[in-house]
Amino acid sequence: MAMEAMRAVQILNPSGEVTMPRPTRQRVMCVANQKGGVGKTTTTVNLAVALALHGNRVLVVDLDPQGNASTGLNVPHHAGVPDVYDCLIDQVPMEEVAQAVEGIPNLYCVPATIDLAGAEIELVSVVARESRLGRAIQGFPMEFDYVFIDCPPSLGLLTVNALCAAQEVLIPIQCEYYALEGLNQLLNNINLVKAHLNPNLDVSTILLTMYDRRTRLADAVEQDVRNHFGEKVLTSVIPRNVRVSEAPSYGQSVMTYDPGSRGATSYFEAAQEIAERGAKIGVAA
Ligand SMILES: Nc1ncnc2c1ncn2[C@@H]1O[C@H](COP(=O)(O)OP(=O)(O)O)[C@@H](O)[C@H]1O
Ligand SMILES: [Mg+2]
Repeated sequence: MAMEAMRAVQILNPSGEVTMPRPTRQRVMCVANQKGGVGKTTTTVNLAVALALHGNRVLVVDLDPQGNASTGLNVPHHAGVPDVYDCLIDQVPMEEVAQAVEGIPNLYCVPATIDLAGAEIELVSVVARESRLGRAIQGFPMEFDYVFIDCPPSLGLLTVNALCAAQEVLIPIQCEYYALEGLNQLLNNINLVKAHLNPNLDVSTILLTMYDRRTRLADAVEQDVRNHFGEKVLTSVIPRNVRVSEAPSYGQSVMTYDPGSRGATSYFEAAQEIAERGAKIGVAA
């Protein structure tokens, strides 16, 4: 119990001091995997909250018409609320759409409403259809250390916009099913975007999610992924933890919902690894 309480204080960081190093330049990270239910949104929300609680300025862009990241951060996103659709289609400045996340200083969210469902088709016929999101983020006058883009479970124009707006791709991989299957399609798309639209794009980070240590399969998947992607794979692995799945129904991340839980601890450690890598970007080894 005492250990758990100590961990909780460490995670909530009530003094607000910078305990995760800030990156040497802004990092725009696209959280993508065309498979649904692998932990994209959960990862986006929890990493964003963890980094913001530890002195980083963070923006979450909800790019999934289901609006789960908006729900998880308790940001209003019912029909009629200005959202990322307005930025993409009507080129409304992002600062008019972004909302401060209640209770988490330094964290902002650009919500997604049901309007976004139409964007995939409407984008086809607009000018500079692949670069709308990148321009909107670049035009945001506030400075952020991290921008996380939570992608929909598809490889359409919304995901292409996210890949064009980012320098880095973070791929959450679920440890349960045969994980590498289907990933080739995502990697091919990333290479196409890199070749034609965004030469700076890099798959920088792989995070293993929903790890169930009771199954031998999870271990096999982990070995496979580590052999394939090497040091891109974070050392921290996110366990399957019921507190993680309960948190969104309270409009919270697991970091605030149950900071002493294993889910919170592992997302905290993953965020710390990401921050430590970010502090080294552009600095000679
Ligand atoms: N580590 C975890 N432990 C338990 N449940 C999880 C965990 N990560 C995600 N979930 C649950 O799994 C479901 C899918 O996760 P989600 O992040 O929404 O995936 P995606 O955004 O890739 O579709 C959600 O109900 C979520 O609460
Ligand atoms: Mg999602």
